Amino acid sequence: MKQFFKFLLQIRQYKGLVILHFVCYVLTAIFTVASIPAIIPLFEMLFRNGEVKVLPPEKTESLGEYFQYGKFKFAEWLNLHDRADGVLIICIAIGAIFLLKNLFKYLAVYFITPVRANLIRNTRQKLFSKMMDLPLSFFSEEKKGDLIARMTADVAELEFTLLNSMESLVKDPLIILGSLIFMLYTSIELTLFVMLLLLITSLIIGGISRTLRKKSMNAQREFGDLIALMEESLGGLRVIKVFGSENYVKSRFSRILNKYKDELVSINRRRELASPLSEFLGIVIVCILLWFGAKLVFSQQIDASTFLAFLYAFFNVIEPSKALSAAYFNIHKGMAALERIDHVLKVPIEITDQERAEQMDSFEEEIRFENVSFSYPNQSDSVLKNINLRIAKGETVAIVGASGSGKSTLVDLLARFHDVSSGAIYLDKHNLKNIQIKDIRKLMGMVTQEPILFNDSIRKNIEFSDKNYPQDELWKVLDLSYSSEFVNQEGRSLESNIGDRGSKLSGGQRQRLTLARALLRNPQILILDEATSALDSASETIIQAAMENILKNRTAIVIAHRLSTIKNADQIIVLKEGEIVERGKHEDLIKMNGEYCNFVELQTLI
Ligand SMILES: Nc1ncnc2c1ncn2[C@@H]1O[C@H](COP(=O)(O)OP(=O)(O)OP(=O)(O)O)[C@@H](O)[C@H]1O
Ligand SMILES: [Mg+2]
Repeated sequence: MKQFFKFLLQIRQYKGLVILHFVCYVLTAIFTVASIPAIIPLFEMLFRNGEVKVLPPEKTESLGEYFQYGKFKFAEWLNLHDRADGVLIICIAIGAIFLLKNLFKYLAVYFITPVRANLIRNTRQKLFSKMMDLPLSFFSEEKKGDLIARMTADVAELEFTLLNSMESLVKDPLIILGSLIFMLYTSIELTLFVMLLLLITSLIIGGISRTLRKKSMNAQREFGDLIALMEESLGGLRVIKVFGSENYVKSRFSRILNKYKDELVSINRRRELASPLSEFLGIVIVCILLWFGAKLVFSQQIDASTFLAFLYAFFNVIEPSKALSAAYFNIHKGMAALERIDHVLKVPIEITDQERAEQMDSFEEEIRFENVSFSYPNQSDSVLKNINLRIAKGETVAIVGASGSGKSTLVDLLARFHDVSSGAIYLDKHNLKNIQIKDIRKLMGMVTQEPILFNDSIRKNIEFSDKNYPQDELWKVLDLSYSSEFVNQEGRSLESNIGDRGSKLSGGQRQRLTLARALLRNPQILILDEATSALDSASETIIQAAMENILKNRTAIVIAHRLSTIKNADQIIVLKEGEIVERGKHEDLIKMNGEYCNFVELQTLI
């Protein structure tokens, strides 16, 4: 509940609209409570035969006395006119009251609609921003699809349940309160008795709705699994088809779907219980009340007409109580969604700027790894152990090593995707942890092992920011990365869409495009994580030429598999199981006849 109110507190930003909404609902409540009792005395007079006798009040001070005065005036008027005119007046009055009631009801919704829409909008925006700010390690633990589900389905659930209930929470207590005051005014004893009965029923309803939250939580989680599987399957359609695994994936999907469906059936059955249950309990209370009240009337403790008025007031309480208990059920259901959203919003961002993080606009001297060790979260084995490494400005360093030896991890540490477990990394004199992250990333350009492209034009994929670069700069990097040739192909231009994740391009073309993207920013430090595969030999030669072009006089760290790139490096680092086992120039390392030599032999064999 605390979370729910905290969520609702966000409406503070829209104070004006909320106040208008509240005022309109108060007016709606007033017209709802007042409409019928106001008309009853008029009916009373109207259908009485002969002349209507109403005495004027002695003085007109209280509301009741004004009311009496109104009745008196109306009786006076009726006695002078035709009764049909009286009916007409009453009809007009009923029409007017209902018009006002519904007008204010609509206005209340009118004012609150943008507030609701904004709460939903802000929640989605907050979630997305948070996801963009979270460190990469968070995403290796969570399913992407589940996160998408939180952003879509859970937020929608929030809208259906919590926000719908929000109105009930404002309006219905007002009507109940109004009626209760009227009841208290008629009979304190009976009111206390009714309150006791209401308390018992709310306990019963509360008990039933308690499990609803847990069930909703399960259902939302299963929905997350569904989206995750859907997302993965759509992404991996090619593999699914070639392995003939359609049926396997379909049955996995169907299993999760069934679990989700069963959970939904159970939740909806329980939720639908709210309305009939509260109606039945309401009637039970009425019966008990009738019995109890009748006894009081028979023993002449209260009068019959007072008891009738009391019963009437109590009827006014039933409908809003029903709505309130439905709201209570819904809130419990919505809380599950809120919790799932909050879970993401509350994840601490571990990799963030220190309080007094320094600015760093340019890189002058060296990159230094000092005794760096690293292990992934929740894993005991170190992926990198005691790495000591110095890369001078302008130097190209090639990192080689077997698959899984920690090459990608090493460059990820330099971009501060993760923080080192021990030791430190320095850029010039500054510890990486003390530099503003945006500055670190500005200094670096990175081509990741898998080319990451977006469903957009070639231009947008290279620019990848709001900034518009001039044509000649774009063509320059396209030339450098040997991409101009395929961008200039028949039917293709800078504005052509490259399909989902670049699917309209070949593997090598995708790599060259990511290279162009990294080069466009002219980064001082270039990090290239070459892919081992996905290249035909023609593209291989082209990439090779592109590399030579690019690496000249640039500080670069290249995770290389191509001997040509490695040979030209100023320094070669050989990683084995997270440790640097050899380092030096190509010729020296060959002479050592160790790990590097093995690696080169393997390369030349291929
Ligand atoms: N997010 C992660 N969580 C846990 N362990 C990871 C994670 N990423 C990588 N690893 C592990 O860390 C080790 C080093 O991985 P890394 O990606 O750095 O290897 P690599 O040298 O780049 O290999 P490759 O040449 O195949 O790309 C591997 O054993 C891998 O299983
Ligand atoms: Mg790698």
